[in-house]
Amino acid sequence: MVSKTILGLSAYYHDSAACLLVDGRIVAAAQEERFTRKKHDAEFPKNAAAYCLSAGEIDAKALDHVAFYDKPLLKFERLFETYLEYAPRGFASFLKAMPIWLTNRLFLEEKIREELGTEAPILFGDHHESHAASAFFPSPFEEAAILTMDGVGEWATSSLGLGKGNGLTLHSELKFPHSIGLLYSAFTYFCGFKVNSGEYKLMGLAPYGEPKYVDVIRERLLHICGDGSIRLNMDYFEFAAGLRMTGRGFEELFGGPARKAESLLTQREMDLARSVQEVTEEIVLKMSRHVKQETGAKYLCLAGGVALNCVANGRLLRERVFDDLWIQPAAGDAGGAVGAALAVWHRYLGEPRESAEKRGTWRPGVPSKGKTAAPRPVGGVAATPDGDVALVAISAIQLPPYEDGMSGAFLGPSFSSKDISAWLESRRYPFRTVSREELPGTVAELLAAEKVVGLLQGRMEFGPRALGGRSILGDPRSPRMQSVMNLKIKFRESFRPFAPSVMREEVSKWFEIDADSPYMLLVADVAKPLRREMTGAEQALWGIEKLNVPRSTIPAVTHVDYSARLQTVRREANALYHEILAAFHAKTGCPVVVNTSFNVRGEPIVCTPEDAYRCFMRTAMDALVLENHVLVREEQPACAEGDDWRKTFTLD
Ligand SMILES: [Fe+2]
Repeated sequence: MVSKTILGLSAYYHDSAACLLVDGRIVAAAQEERFTRKKHDAEFPKNAAAYCLSAGEIDAKALDHVAFYDKPLLKFERLFETYLEYAPRGFASFLKAMPIWLTNRLFLEEKIREELGTEAPILFGDHHESHAASAFFPSPFEEAAILTMDGVGEWATSSLGLGKGNGLTLHSELKFPHSIGLLYSAFTYFCGFKVNSGEYKLMGLAPYGEPKYVDVIRERLLHICGDGSIRLNMDYFEFAAGLRMTGRGFEELFGGPARKAESLLTQREMDLARSVQEVTEEIVLKMSRHVKQETGAKYLCLAGGVALNCVANGRLLRERVFDDLWIQPAAGDAGGAVGAALAVWHRYLGEPRESAEKRGTWRPGVPSKGKTAAPRPVGGVAATPDGDVALVAISAIQLPPYEDGMSGAFLGPSFSSKDISAWLESRRYPFRTVSREELPGTVAELLAAEKVVGLLQGRMEFGPRALGGRSILGDPRSPRMQSVMNLKIKFRESFRPFAPSVMREEVSKWFEIDADSPYMLLVADVAKPLRREMTGAEQALWGIEKLNVPRSTIPAVTHVDYSARLQTVRREANALYHEILAAFHAKTGCPVVVNTSFNVRGEPIVCTPEDAYRCFMRTAMDALVLENHVLVREEQPACAEGDDWRKTFTLD
């Protein structure tokens, strides 16, 4: 049988990406930034597309379809109409946007043909339909409500509907300029962070603040309707007309000008972060309750940039509006490439879809209200009496089956052990090779000795989070790990704790949740018995100082409000990473490790062993694991850039 192939593309806004579908299965997906090393690269995803085609061993000429994730003409119409509505105020931004539109976007079909060298039909999806398709089609559910929320697509800023089998219907949408994503981005901008990437930081800042601006936001900036739709008061926002997100009205409302990037954070930014987070959660909950009422569905699928707000997602799960959630790991525009391709397969070509729920390879996980059983070592690896770690039968804990269409987001390039060792030898970098069986124990031993380990193994992750394929790992129990990893590895001070990866079997003993969070898109609290109350003197501390006070027995991953944005790891999704956690568990009694993305501040996550080695040498990381090859810092040749970390630290 001849396979049918579809290449999905997203580009020209932020995080351009490509995805290859072979007979409806996602075989490869990657963001352009990982290849060009330009963070959030929005250019045509030439390298990502080339990788996807090579992973599928397909020539671009043989593609059956190309699917682009939005409709440039409609987007242009929105830009043009917005300009007319706000003329002459919007002229500057209109003028700035024009050259890009006239060269690339309006003539996209020709551009795609030229870049790819393909004659395949090119289909253009609707931006929010692409998000919706990326949320529902790879989800495990046979039927589910769908909610998409972002800054803006063509006109829509949010949409809701129902997915069933291979069908997907969007029932209603919210239109520009009324946007929950742009509301959050306006506060991101006002608090001195970069729009389209600093939203995550604003969310991390919220636990330090008080919700003192919630009423002002509700009364002056927007009206929230019963169904969760919003109307922004455009007197306060500049994004429709100008090159800024907020203007003078915002400054008057919130006590002065926007915070300058990199300047000191004050209590005001923390209170603003907390306030807009609360308003966002209220809107997300109302929208979700509305779509539940409209569809009667048991489950919910989420995508769009706002779906990366893991605090809101965690609350949505805890409040049990739906029995379970599934969130597209590349919830931002990169994931649009996946959605566009899947929409062509199921909706345009009418090909059937067999959900994991129907196959019986998925059942809902039920979030617990917090179990109090003391953590104990259980798992796939046990320590032998002489201290060595040996593999034993995986724990008898029965988990509900879990499968989705994203393959744990491990959809990017991988590098063979043989190729890596040949490359290391050619560069004369000292390394030692350990067997696959020894590897988990070796990494666990390094971590238990408070070493920071860079790990590159298997396929690179698709989406913004590192999930054990391109990760920097540390011991979460160590009181100094937080600052060591921030200052010597990531080159930043941070008000955010690191994220934990935890064995799925053990999650309910360590966190107040008993559900899968494979993509680090849910926040849950650290289990009560592990927490540590702050003393009066510690309470009086401010900002980052507060973060340095241990809040639990795993302080490096516990936020000041005891929350953690966690990743649960199953053996089926990533066997080696699960074994590393199990080996660490057997050695220390702790099935949790610190997992931060393998990059330094301002750089995309590493892709190749060479990227990883460069990052390793630029930082004070102790060890680097490239598949089953282990490199130790002290043995490496001197590197001119090796002392970069001594330069000034910036707040992230
Ligand atoms: Fe979007």
